Amino acid sequence: MEKELKLVPILTTEQIQEKVTELAQKITEEYQDYFPLMVGILKGCFIFAADLLRQLEFPYEVDFLGTSSYGDSTTSSGVVKLTKDLDFNVENRHVLLIEDIVDTGLTLHYLCDILKRREPLSVNIVALVEKDIPRTVDLPVKYIGFKVPNVYVAGYGLDWKEQFRGLPYIAQVIE
Ligand code: IMP
Repeated sequence: MEKELKLVPILTTEQIQEKVTELAQKITEEYQDYFPLMVGILKGCFIFAADLLRQLEFPYEVDFLGTSSYGDSTTSSGVVKLTKDLDFNVENRHVLLIEDIVDTGLTLHYLCDILKRREPLSVNIVALVEKDIPRTVDLPVKYIGFKVPNVYVAGYGLDWKEQFRGLPYIAQVIE
């Protein structure tokens, strides 16, 4: 029998839009003279990145990295796989990674490690959501939108088993 699923909204469309504008202003202040490479982490970043990048009022380039660790499960496997590498060379560039959500932090830790070996001028992270849990890894998270409790969330690009990415708000998924 199909299990019943409940979506409980925790961040509204308005709250998210306000936060994205605030983040864009902070990033503009610090990066406007850097011609940075803005790197979206697929797939969950696609809506956040699109909204954020359209509010940046300075020149930048865009690239994407693809990773997978969860597959169809809702807990981290701890093993991160690079499914798409960058098209750009990051040597001597300022790089800002755009992430939807930081959970264990293992994905970003792995990606930062790879990128730092390519000798960029800097690597930092903007994450829309961070789960409020203790982390075992150190991360250069420079900008955070929201902290949420340790629950599974979906919407605004985030999926639950590949569903709900198009929800205009973020909801807790209760199975
Ligand atoms: P981490 O490596 O544990 O930090 O997980 C990072 C990735 O797992 C994110 O980029 C998301 O794609 C996915 N993820 C982690 N928590 C959630 C969640 O609550 N909802 C949807 N995706 C999540």
